Amino acid sequence: MFAKVLQRTVRRSFSSTSNAAKEIKKIGVVGMGSMGHGIVQLSAQSGFEVVAVDLDQNVIDHAMSSINGSLDKLQAKGKLSEEVVAAARANITTSTDLGAAAEDCDLIIEAIVENLPIKLAFYKDLGGLTKAGQILASNTSSYPITEMANASGRPEDVCGLHYFNPVQIMKLVEVVSTEHTSQQTVDAVTAYVEKTGKVGVPCGDSPGFIVNRLLVPYIVQGVAMVARGDAKPDDIDLAMRLGAGYPMGPITLSDYVGNDINLAVMKGWVERFPNDPAFQAPEAMELLEEMVAAGKLGRKTGEGFFKWEGNKRV
Ligand code: 3HC
Repeated sequence: MFAKVLQRTVRRSFSSTSNAAKEIKKIGVVGMGSMGHGIVQLSAQSGFEVVAVDLDQNVIDHAMSSINGSLDKLQAKGKLSEEVVAAARANITTSTDLGAAAEDCDLIIEAIVENLPIKLAFYKDLGGLTKAGQILASNTSSYPITEMANASGRPEDVCGLHYFNPVQIMKLVEVVSTEHTSQQTVDAVTAYVEKTGKVGVPCGDSPGFIVNRLLVPYIVQGVAMVARGDAKPDDIDLAMRLGAGYPMGPITLSDYVGNDINLAVMKGWVERFPNDPAFQAPEAMELLEEMVAAGKLGRKTGEGFFKWEGNKRV
């Protein structure tokens, strides 16, 4: 069985085909939350033309202010030259009109709200607004790419590109293919990922792909320890930093990623796999529900298990 799986993954990631992969030049990124605007910045500073799309102009304005602030800092630290920063700014346009924005994009990366029915409706629309050969990629944390691909009406052009928080820093992108994803699609997005300086790891369309399948249950088990009073949040974090070498403990990481995101991922899995013990953590779910209802989403709202100012705990 292992050999079979390995064979499938290797074929998907490295085989060459007679049809050369399409070169990606222009990218649309839809959804200007923290992941979406991180992907816009990364692509623009790597030389790609990018259109940043959101329904809400205020959200776009906030995203652009974060991108501009981050580019300023990178230039001030000497990590990016003045020329690269100027080119990155010039590479970005914005739009609230998905149809017009998507028209001439080679790749459209979706980073909208983590809600499957909303994503499926979005892919149905996007499939109609774009044409064969335009690649559609989801940055979903945990939902099945296959369902989005089917909703689009042309599953061969659909894959997952799963980025990690903070997008500007984390080196990995999971390149998720379904059984319908064409090799040209995989090759084209893999080349794009490499040009942005990231490492693309190929994987199949299983729940949580590689990282979140391991990381989210770990975070949620940490939250369950808080809920049961097994240990204090800071002590759980310190233990995992010093005992397991993690850069952040699970409770800080829950705040960092967003308590709403971790809750949405786990809820989705519990609904889809009610008998899988790996996804059962009722105490944690209850605590996360309470925190989300109280607006304690973590870093992005300034408070979660801890208090935050920008990217730092206070
Ligand atoms: N944006 C841009 N740059 C950032 C940043 C951000 N949000 N956060 C930190 N940085 C930069 C800092 O400016 C600093 O740059 P410098 O070296 O030029 O000064 C560098 O990163 C290191 O930052 P700090 O010194 O402040 O702090 P750390 O050394 O602790 O690093 C960290 C911060 C990189 C976030 C590190 O703590 C870490 O790796 N944490 C774990 C992150 C993680 O696990 N991410 C995955 C989450 S799962 C996910 O995203 C999937 C999703 O589907 C849920």
